[in-house]
Amino acid sequence: MTINSHPSIIALDGPAASGKSTLGLRLADSLGYLFFDTGIMYRAITWIALQRQLDLRDESTVTELAQTAQIDIRPPSKKDGRACDVVIAEKDVTWEMRDGNVDANVSVVSAYAGVRQALSEQQRRIGLRGRVVMVGRDIGTVVLPEADIKIYLDASAEERAKRRYDEIIARGERSDYDEILRKVIERDHIDSTRAVAPLRPAEDAIIIDSDKMDADQVFDQVLALCK
Ligand code: DC
Repeated sequence: MTINSHPSIIALDGPAASGKSTLGLRLADSLGYLFFDTGIMYRAITWIALQRQLDLRDESTVTELAQTAQIDIRPPSKKDGRACDVVIAEKDVTWEMRDGNVDANVSVVSAYAGVRQALSEQQRRIGLRGRVVMVGRDIGTVVLPEADIKIYLDASAEERAKRRYDEIIARGERSDYDEILRKVIERDHIDSTRAVAPLRPAEDAIIIDSDKMDADQVFDQVLALCK
């Protein structure tokens, strides 16, 4: 712990669509901390690789990209639900990075040891400054094992797929629940069985199962833990 009475480094891990970003953003806002969603970095590398039509099976090419790519994270320029702007070569890719093509390929990119090493180093450097809510899959286990508090936010695959589905429908777009569920299960499998930094709770993490809780209840519980 540091000078103030709140934990300074908050690690927030969990599977895809468990509500980590929503929770992390609210937590960071209410504590006046930096919110850092590390998934953005893996998505950005995947987006660039797809744009350049690199062979994603070529680990050394993708690793070199992760070591050299310039990804800019800026304060949000629009009020359209984004937590920040993600800018690559002066192009705003905030939403493109979340499209189906990136979703389908990001697990492959994030399984490469060299990619993880390059991105984890940057995440760790930023996280060690403190007053940060860092969100990802391996923050409590690998990136910042010394975090003051580690939360692992879980929910069943069905509940997570339903939340994703509801979000898409609320944006007025078409969606298919069964397809989303299939992808959620597939990503869970890749993220939790990869050789390097697999998705799992740290031994000292507090596990929160949000299946029967709404976003407010989860937030209240975690804020209470931080205080
Ligand atoms: O949280 P997200 O869905 O935006 O993450 C995108 C991908 O990046 C996901 O497949 C898991 C991976 N990821 C990771 O391996 N480690 C992190 N710290 C964050 C994300």
